[in-house]
Amino acid sequence: MNHEQQEWTRPEPLWREDCKIDSFEPLREDASTEVLIVGGGITGITTAYLLAKAGKQVTLIEADQLVNGTTGHTTAKVTAQHGLIYNEFLNHFGDEQASLYYQAQMNALHFMKDLVDQYSIDCEWTEEDAHLFATTKQGALKLEKEHKAYLQLDIPGTLYESLPFDMEATKALSMKNQARFHPLKYLQALVKELKNLGCTIHEQTTATDVKEEDRIHVKTGNDCTITCDKLVSCSHFPFYDGKGFYFSRMYAERSYLMAIEPEKEIPEGMYLSIDEPKRTVRTASYNGKPILLIGGESHKTGQGVDTSFHYRVLEEFAARTFGIKKKLFQWSAQDLTTLDKVPYIGPITRRNQNVFVATGFRKWGMTNGTLAGQLISDYVLGEQSLFHELFTPSRFKTDPSMKQFLSQNFDVATHLIDGKLELVADRPERLHKGEGKIIQWKGERAGAFKDEEGQVYMVDTTCTHMGCEVEWNGAEHSWDCPCHGSRFSYDGSVMEGPADQPLKDLSHELMPLGEHKREGQEDQLEESE
Ligand code: FES
Repeated sequence: MNHEQQEWTRPEPLWREDCKIDSFEPLREDASTEVLIVGGGITGITTAYLLAKAGKQVTLIEADQLVNGTTGHTTAKVTAQHGLIYNEFLNHFGDEQASLYYQAQMNALHFMKDLVDQYSIDCEWTEEDAHLFATTKQGALKLEKEHKAYLQLDIPGTLYESLPFDMEATKALSMKNQARFHPLKYLQALVKELKNLGCTIHEQTTATDVKEEDRIHVKTGNDCTITCDKLVSCSHFPFYDGKGFYFSRMYAERSYLMAIEPEKEIPEGMYLSIDEPKRTVRTASYNGKPILLIGGESHKTGQGVDTSFHYRVLEEFAARTFGIKKKLFQWSAQDLTTLDKVPYIGPITRRNQNVFVATGFRKWGMTNGTLAGQLISDYVLGEQSLFHELFTPSRFKTDPSMKQFLSQNFDVATHLIDGKLELVADRPERLHKGEGKIIQWKGERAGAFKDEEGQVYMVDTTCTHMGCEVEWNGAEHSWDCPCHGSRFSYDGSVMEGPADQPLKDLSHELMPLGEHKREGQEDQLEESE
């Protein structure tokens, strides 16, 4: 890379740069509605759009800003090619269900394209093929099997040998007629339409508790209650479990993305490698110029090495493969995977037909989120769908789900125990500016972060969801839980559930009178212990 040309990389998604979505006031008083939707990403907005259009009275609430969660951090590939899945689905579910999975994703893609046309949405919608590629012999064999599955399921695709960029592949497999777009520009238009349809929207409004009686009462963080007939949880991790045990049926992974202006020619198409280390590549545009989005480095949340390491590795890959003229943006995303890789979309439990959930989209939230909007609006409107059974959260397939269930919960149990036994020697006074780490405080494990002004924040590292020990994420300055993916800011406030309570704040223990520790006050720190 030419370092003289390198610019400051902005630590945020590319998408927010050139697109602002309308903002909305927080809820300030009790309210009543037919349908309450919790979560303002692509799933919540699509569900709200379809139901409002069908004449339902809809309220949508979002804990933060609209489209600032997983949807705002996506690679925004609109595709049914979700990695190597069709051969696996054929074996696990049979050809009818495997084919339905593909059809459901393509229906979602066509629905999105129809909206883009209907409202003339200028969202950089570009039809392109999606491609998987292998770099090993074993990977090539897997792609051959996947191709056979495509043939069996009538999925248009081609098996081929070499990539249009500087990387040796042993095989590649395309899926025809997929798309990429700018997700915020698309959703900006849908939000405008929601306003026209009379949908009520509140930002900075967190749903904290649910009481199901004759109607459903949802408590919000600012002490208001929304009463509704149907409740839809589109909050990435369901904010309400409703005895569905979702926390034990999914695991969370983080992955990393960067936007660069490359030195070499930009390849057409969207690429994903199937061998380790996995890499994803797609074209986008910035200031009217074509750029590349490059991603990968997934790891279970809270189990990465130093998280800034992942960006460095991606940058090395980008420099080697495409050359870097300018680094533009970098950001990370969190995704949830279900036991059988098929999202959970439908009634929260078999018996509860009033509360719906949509979660577990793996990395494929654009089609799955849209599909979830279609399926849930069908449920609410009492319409049958071909796809309900495949995606219902109460499906139960023992193979390979049970094996994964056991190993994932073993993983959780290990983190519950390991974190508690870990010996730590670091102390808050040894922190450098911008550094966060696990320290020992009064003989216990604690988490401390020192900001650029020298202010130290200290938290109890026990996750408020179910008691695992959170780990420091140096790239995002957050405390991440390895068990079910909750994330907390450096000061302990909740960034992502399932936890809905902040980490216990210990900062006040650093100094008498609640003052935080600043540079040059090490002696007092020592004394306060
Ligand atoms: Fe479940 Fe932390 S997210 S214990």
